Amino acid sequence: MSDLSLDQLQESKPLRLEKSGKAICVTRIGSEVFAIADTCSHSDASLAEGEVSGFTIECWLHGAQFDLRNGQATTPPATQSVEVFAVRIDGDSVMIDV
Ligand code: FES
Repeated sequence: MSDLSLDQLQESKPLRLEKSGKAICVTRIGSEVFAIADTCSHSDASLAEGEVSGFTIECWLHGAQFDLRNGQATTPPATQSVEVFAVRIDGDSVMIDV
C-alpha cells in the first residue's frame, strides 16, 4: 500500500504527511524522494513549509538548514539532526518506512 503517488510531489516542493502518528516532510528531487521528520529540531515549525535548494531544506522560522539526505542540521540555530525515514518507490507508488 502506497503512502502517496509520485504525481502528488512537485519538484523541490515539500509535502507534509502524517503516518503512524509521525509528521513527515516528503520532498522529491528529480527521480529521488526524501523523507525527514517534519518538525524542526530547533523549535516547533513545520519543515514542509520551508524552502528547498539542492538537497537542503531551510526552516522558515529561524533559517536553520537540514540535509534532506541524512537529516543533519547544517546551519544554526538548529544543532540536532532530524529523523530520516527510508523511502521506497515502486512505479508511481511512494512508500515511507516509519
Ligand atoms: S524553528 Fe526551525 S530554525 Fe527555529
